[in-house]
Amino acid sequence: MSVSPILVTGATGRLGRLVVERLVALRQPVRVLTRRPDAARKLFGSGIEIAAGDFADRASVEAASRGAGRLLLLSPISQTLASDQIAIANAAAAAGIGRIVKISGSDWTIEPSGNSISGDAHANVERHLRTLATEHVSLRPNAWMQVSLATTINQVLAGNPLFAANPEAGIGYIDARDIADVATHQLLADKVAGQTLKLTGPSVVTARQLAALLSVALKRPVALREKPLVAAPADADIEHCAVAQFAALIAAGRAATTTEVVATILGRLPRSVKAFISEHLAAEAALAG
Ligand SMILES: NC(=O)c1ccc[n+]([C@@H]2O[C@H](COP(=O)([O-])OP(=O)(O)OC[C@H]3O[C@@H](n4cnc5c(N)ncnc54)[C@H](OP(=O)(O)O)[C@@H]3O)[C@@H](O)[C@H]2O)c1
Repeated sequence: MSVSPILVTGATGRLGRLVVERLVALRQPVRVLTRRPDAARKLFGSGIEIAAGDFADRASVEAASRGAGRLLLLSPISQTLASDQIAIANAAAAAGIGRIVKISGSDWTIEPSGNSISGDAHANVERHLRTLATEHVSLRPNAWMQVSLATTINQVLAGNPLFAANPEAGIGYIDARDIADVATHQLLADKVAGQTLKLTGPSVVTARQLAALLSVALKRPVALREKPLVAAPADADIEHCAVAQFAALIAAGRAATTTEVVATILGRLPRSVKAFISEHLAAEAALAG
C-alpha cells in the first residue's frame, strides 16, 4: 500500500465514520471530503487530512481526488445520489485513483430494477463504474442494525408494541461495524473480492422472532401488532419515498436473505441480532444512568 491517502466521502455519517476510525487505527493516511471541516476535525482529530468541499461543487471534488490512492464512495439517499457519485467516480478516475469501494444499496432494492428509487440510483452508479478502467467493488449491505433495528428497539423501549406489516417477513440485518470492516478490508486488500458483494448478517430474523428476542432481553412481554403499509404522501421527499418502498419490499420478504460473504472476507461470523440487542440495551441503560 502506498502512502497516498484514502479519500472517504460521507465520512462524517453513520457508516463513513466507522470506516475512517478503522483506517486511522491501522495507521493508514486518510483524507475526508466534507462540508463541515470543523465537525470532521472534532470527530477524527488532527491525524487525518480534511478536504472542505461539496458534491455539488465539482471543483472541490476534483481537488479532493488529486493525489489520493483509493476511494470510499458513499453518499446519502438524495435526488442527486447517482449524479454526485458518478461525478466523484469520474474525478477519481481522472486523478488516477487506483480503486473505488462503493457503498451501494441493499441487493433487494437493486434487483429487480424498478422497485426502489434509491436502488435504481445505486444501480446507475454501479453500471457507470463498470465503464471505467478503475478497479472497483460495490458493497450491497442488507438493512443495517444501527438504523432500522435500533429504531424498532427504541420504540419498544418507549413502551410501544413492535409494529410490522408482515410479522413473518424476515430481514438478514447486518451490523454497520461489519460493513465497515469489509469496506476497510476491500480498501486495503491486494485485490477486490468481486464486482458486487452482497453483505448480510448471519441469519434472517422475522418481526415475530424479534418480539420474542426483545421479550427475553427485557424480561417482559413485548406485544407484536400488525400495521398496514402506508404509502408515502404525494409531496414526500425522496428519502421518505425510498423508506416507504423499503417497507413494502421487506413486507414481501425480499430482505430475508443471508450470504457467506462477510464470513469469507473477514474469517469470522458477522455480528448477530441477539448480540446487537444486548449491546444496544446496555448502552441505553447506561445513558439512562
Ligand atoms: N441504512 C441502511 O440500512 C442502508 C442499507 C443499504 C445501503 N445504505 C446506503 O448507505 C448510504 C447512507 O449512509 P449513511 O447512513 O452512513 O449516511 P449519512 O449518515 O446520512 O451521512 C451522510 C454523509 O454524506 C455527506 N454528505 C451529504 N451531502 C453531501 C454533500 N452535498 N457534499 C459532501 N458531503 C455530503 C455528509 O457529510 P458532511 O455533512 O460532513 O458534509 C455525511 O458524512 C446511502 O447511500 C444508502 O443507500 C443504507
